[in-house]
Amino acid sequence: MKRILLLGSGGREHALAWKIAQSPKVEKLFIAPGNAGTMSVGENVALKSDDFDGIRRFVLENGVNMVVVGPEDPLVKGIYDYFKADSQLSSVPVIGPSRAGAVLEGSKEFAKGFMQRHGIPTAAYRSFNGTTIDEGLQFLETLQPPYVLKADGLCAGKGVLIVPTLEEAKHELKEMLGGMFGQASAKVVIEQFLSGIECSVFVMTDGRHYKILPEAKDYKRIGEGDTGLNTGGMGSVSPVPFATKEWMQKVEDRIIRPTVEGLAAEGIDYKGFIFFGLINVDGDPMVIEYNVRMGDPETESVMLRIKSDIVDMFDGIAEGNLDERTLEADPRSAVCVMLVSGGYPEAYKKGFPITGLDRVDGSIVFHAGTALNDGAVVTAGGRVIAVSSYGATKEEALAKSFAEAQKIEFEGKYFRSDIGKDLN
Ligand code: AMP
Ligand code: GLY
Repeated sequence: MKRILLLGSGGREHALAWKIAQSPKVEKLFIAPGNAGTMSVGENVALKSDDFDGIRRFVLENGVNMVVVGPEDPLVKGIYDYFKADSQLSSVPVIGPSRAGAVLEGSKEFAKGFMQRHGIPTAAYRSFNGTTIDEGLQFLETLQPPYVLKADGLCAGKGVLIVPTLEEAKHELKEMLGGMFGQASAKVVIEQFLSGIECSVFVMTDGRHYKILPEAKDYKRIGEGDTGLNTGGMGSVSPVPFATKEWMQKVEDRIIRPTVEGLAAEGIDYKGFIFFGLINVDGDPMVIEYNVRMGDPETESVMLRIKSDIVDMFDGIAEGNLDERTLEADPRSAVCVMLVSGGYPEAYKKGFPITGLDRVDGSIVFHAGTALNDGAVVTAGGRVIAVSSYGATKEEALAKSFAEAQKIEFEGKYFRSDIGKDLN
């Protein structure tokens, strides 16, 4: 029987915990640090997800025999390698890539080079640092607007700038290389702008075999009609209508298989999720970015669409026989609508009581940024609650989520009421 420790604290982790807890293989589920919602499916542990020594102690003292990593941070910091290198921990599988694999997300320059080496379709690019700034400025002059500038390292989703004029692009390049995002923008990737609709595709891999999970589309901007500032994600929809069988076949042949084979060919140990941020350019999928974890809020709809036992698939990852496990998708639509704090993604207040959660009926509520305060559930983040629903169609699922979203109240609550409406 499995005693699983899941790392992370957001809506993605509540959705993963919800799915993991349904497995007959699970005896005990811990979530570190979790939130007010994960408590209903497991036991929260007051440990930060990058406190490796604290995690080590907890795993040994509590007989944990599998660790599932939600966010990228512990992966980029090498939690997989930390376990592998420790004689007492090396038998405990970590679901997530090694540090070398996590560089696919941790360095945009590495990711671009990897795609180039393996012939994976992506925007043309060049990368610059403080000593090649003049070449960067000259390179910008050869491009057409808008200009896409990406900090090489992790910036909590804020490291990509898309600017309309050459003047702004030059200014931003100097700012980025001058330390706008600290070390993360010591290198900057400048790339060709691609135009199309985005789609998130997820696989699980044991390093040799892979399983393709249901795809999803997320909604990044704060405002209706995709306007305003970027957020962590305001909602998601699965399946995605333009991700037809033919399109997904192109994704598998041109992107997924070359990626998994490329990792193996480069000797990179990778046992976990790969998130392909794709864009559909005139019918052809191209890679915008790799992430080495599941997406948030995509997970809050994708988990609803996995019928099979996810822990059995994790066992397949750990044992290297993922090809022998089954992944059955639910044919229904699943969506999630994110309720956020007033002011988000700029400054917002926390600590407001959340009411009406007990009145939700038929939707699945995943907590994103919540905490317990004297027994009451209160807001504790920008993204607060994800309201996920099934439907025979996307419209039916959305109508359900929007109706249930009305029942949940907290001061300043906001959500986008146009999630999924751009898709036919
Ligand atoms: P990322 O942090 O790499 O996901 O980038 C954030 C967002 O910027 C993406 O989701 C896209 O909407 C957009 N983006 C990134 N790269 C490009 C590109 N080459 N062309 C057009 N849009 C892009
Ligand atoms: N939803 C996009 C992400 O998780 O990065």
